[in-house]
Formats: sequence, C-alpha cells, structure tokens
Amino acid sequence: MSKISRTAEQIVERWLKKGNMAARMRDILPNSGLSLEEREEVAKIVHDVVRWWNWYTFVMEHYSLPERVETYIRLARSKDEWESAEKSVPKERYTEIRYSFSPFMASIIDKEFPELREYLNMEPKTVLCVNFNLSDREEVKDILMKEGMSAEDSVMESAVISDSRARYSRAVKEGKAQVQDESSQLIAKITASLGSKILDYCAGNGVKTIAMASFMRNSGKIHAWDIDEKRRKTLKKRAEIYNAKIEVLERRPEGEYDVVFVDAPCTGVGSARRNPEAKYTDGVGDFPEKQLSILNEAKERVRKGGYLIYCVCSFTPQESVEVIDRFMEETKDFFEEKYESEWLVERKHGYLTRMPEGDVMYLCIMKRT
Ligand SMILES: C[S@@+](CC[C@H](N)C(=O)[O-])C[C@H]1O[C@@H](n2cnc3c(N)ncnc32)[C@H](O)[C@@H]1O
Repeated sequence: MSKISRTAEQIVERWLKKGNMAARMRDILPNSGLSLEEREEVAKIVHDVVRWWNWYTFVMEHYSLPERVETYIRLARSKDEWESAEKSVPKERYTEIRYSFSPFMASIIDKEFPELREYLNMEPKTVLCVNFNLSDREEVKDILMKEGMSAEDSVMESAVISDSRARYSRAVKEGKAQVQDESSQLIAKITASLGSKILDYCAGNGVKTIAMASFMRNSGKIHAWDIDEKRRKTLKKRAEIYNAKIEVLERRPEGEYDVVFVDAPCTGVGSARRNPEAKYTDGVGDFPEKQLSILNEAKERVRKGGYLIYCVCSFTPQESVEVIDRFMEETKDFFEEKYESEWLVERKHGYLTRMPEGDVMYLCIMKRT
C-alpha cells in the first residue's frame, strides 16, 4: 500500500474514534513526512471517504467486501466500478444511502431541497477573497500563476478560484488574499454596504470581518466581538496582517451601530462540500435556542433605522426561517428588508445563497423601526 493510502487510512481510523475530520488531518498531516502535493492527495481521499461513507458501506455489503477502513480507501480511489450496486438501494432510503446523509438531513433534502443532494456532494474548489486594502485581483492572480497554480475570476469581483494549494500561496501569507468561500464573500459585501458603523457580533477569527474592511477600503468603523477570547486574539493578529481597520472589543459591546451582524454558531450543513462530516448531522440540537438568544442580545445594539443581519451556514428550516419566525414574533420593532441579488433565493423569511461555487448560507436582513 502506498504511503498516501496508509496516511489516509490512519486519519480515517482516528476520525472514526474521535470525530472532527479536519482536526484529525491537522493532527497527522504536518508530521507525515509527505510533500505538500502528497498531503493534498491524502486530504482529497479522506474527504471522499467521509463524503461517500454510507454509499461505500452499502457497496461493501452488496459485494461482500471486507468492511474495513482499507476498503473505504480502495473504493475512494476506484469508485466507478461499483455503480451497479445503485439499483439495489431501497427507494425509501435512497438519499440517505446513495448520497450519504443522516436520516435527519435526508428527510429535509427530500422534502425541500432535492437539488442539494448532488450539489453538497461536489468537490469544492478553493476560493480566495482578494484583500483590497493591500492588493487587487490582478496582482493576486499573477502571484498564484507564477507559483504554478490556477487563478480564475468568479462572479464576485473579490473572488479568485484556484486549486487547493492556494492556501499556501505568498498571496495568502502576505495578507493580499484570504481563503474564503464565495457565499461568505457575498454576505460580507452586503453587510458592508448597509452602513458605515458596523458591529460584527460573532466575529470568530474574522474571515467575514476582514472581508468587510476590504470591501469598505477601511473607510468605515468596524467593531468586532466574539464571546471566545482566543478567537478575538487571533482576529486581532489577523487584522494586522491584512491591514484591516477593525477594533476588536475587549468587553461586551455597548452603544449603537448602523449595522449589527450576527453570524451565529450552527450545524454547518451548508458547508458540507468543504466539510462532508456535516452531512451526518442528526438534528439541530440546541442551536436554534442559542441563535435566538444571540439575536436578542445583538438587537440591543442596533440604532433606530439600522440593520440587524442574521446569517448561518445552514439551510435547515429550524436554524433559519423558524428562528426568524420566533424572533419576529417576540420582537415587534424589527421588520424584514428585501435584498435583490441573482445569487439569493427567497425563503419565507430571508434568503439562501446559491452561488456557482459556494456554501449554502442563510441570510436575513432586518431593519429597526
Ligand atoms: C460561525 S462562527 C463565526 C465565524 C466568523 N463570523 C467568520 O466569518 O470567521 C460563530 C461564532 O460565534 C461565537 N459565539 C457563540 N456564542 C456567542 C455569543 N453569545 N456572543 C458572541 N459570540 C458568540 C463563537 O465563539 C463563534 O466564533
């Protein structure tokens, strides 16, 4: 067995014991002795195994193959030979097995989003967001191409589509661009367009905050808050690298803002192409309660006539439309604002992003009376 297959097997075995695929790759890959290209190949195999887990398990049973990790790796590397097993998949469990989703996710997809069955199983491209505070798209593309990588424009003026090695590019190291899904770029751009004093209430490591500062060419005032101190520290460092004018708050925000942006914690099923593990989410847990509670905290910081923007990287009704339903019912001084974009698909409240190359994210813009 090649070193690549062996390393992939080691990661999958560790993932089966401890979960969190991304963390398991971070544990093993840097010390694997493999070149960057080889590590990318391992990552591709691991993603494929996780992406098609239910399907490969079914194939193994169908052809009486030994059910062990080695076989999953073999199937990932030679998948087309097994397509004939498809006819034997029970109809009522087709999405769950053939497209590898948890029964919970399969039922949402079958009922409301059948088109996402294929989409969420597609291997995503790596997308960079150009940092207009330090560079422009032509320079970023030029750096990538000189480093032997692909670099193509996409629908957002900030987006460059490249290959997975782009994350190691000089453009990223020097803060001229960051790795950022295109839907996330769109949401940052919309947020930045709605006012000049912005509070990012769940800023995390600040991927969207930095993009906002970039779209605003550092002209506005951006304050960033996150309950997690470690993330606030990381954001502070990143903001320096990206020359992004962002004030990272040390204490819970006070005062009022034109725009308060809430990128709430969620199941993350909308990013299943990048993190296929999310397809096996078996419920939304207490996320809706958390989301509603954060919205209720954040709404206090919106000035009269200002905006409250809610976003999650998920399309489950429980974390999107239903949270807004409850918020609107309890809060009478916010009403929903429409936003026209060919990349947004309207829901009962708010929108889902449907970019050619992007996560499926939920967005709802509310205005305070
Ligand atoms: C989806 S992540 C944010 C990602 C970030 N906006 C980005 O684009 O990089 C959600 C964040 O919400 C933070 N969070 C959770 N509860 C919070 C609360 N009550 N107030 C503020 N932040 C909270 C988490 O620490 C986490 O960093």
